[in-house]
Amino acid sequence: MSNSNIAIYPGSFDPITNGHVDLVKRTLRVFDRVIVAIATNPDKDHSLFSVDERLQMIQEVFAELRGRAEADSFHGLLVDYAERKGSTVIIRGLRAVSDFEYEFQMALMNHRLKPQLETLFMMTGESEFYTSSRLVKEVVSLGGDVSGLVPDNVLKKLKEKFKR
Ligand code: PNS
Repeated sequence: MSNSNIAIYPGSFDPITNGHVDLVKRTLRVFDRVIVAIATNPDKDHSLFSVDERLQMIQEVFAELRGRAEADSFHGLLVDYAERKGSTVIIRGLRAVSDFEYEFQMALMNHRLKPQLETLFMMTGESEFYTSSRLVKEVVSLGGDVSGLVPDNVLKKLKEKFKR
């Protein structure tokens, strides 16, 4: 049975940024619950943080929301995971035109695989427009400051990883 009040927010979240956090909070204005779902692929994993580290950071960030936003991970197709969770809604954030083609392809493929599944796009907040996990990692690795762009617990973990 599907539960239209649960949205799945999938991604790599390596690591979660304030752009992701903003999107989860805004999604909770529309849905009762959001599952922040880390897609895992052990054969093709070049992540900085392990799945457990990413899960823990996400749990810490949303601890105050009392279970409305939960962290999880999955292996395999997103559409199958959504079905297992009883959700028919995938949330994705859109930053710029450059995101559009990739997102459009994924949404159409997922729709083809499971037509009952809808992808909803939310615009990223203006202050997070230029934030991405990839850029955040690059900036910290080169000694730059990303405070304000990621949650405090993530900032601490990033500094530990790069010994800054
Ligand atoms: O944060 P990302 O890396 O842009 O997220 C991409 C993600 C995880 C949403 C996408 O790679 C995904 O859905 N992976 C799960 C495997 C899958 O279903 N692949 C087919 C997508 S059409």
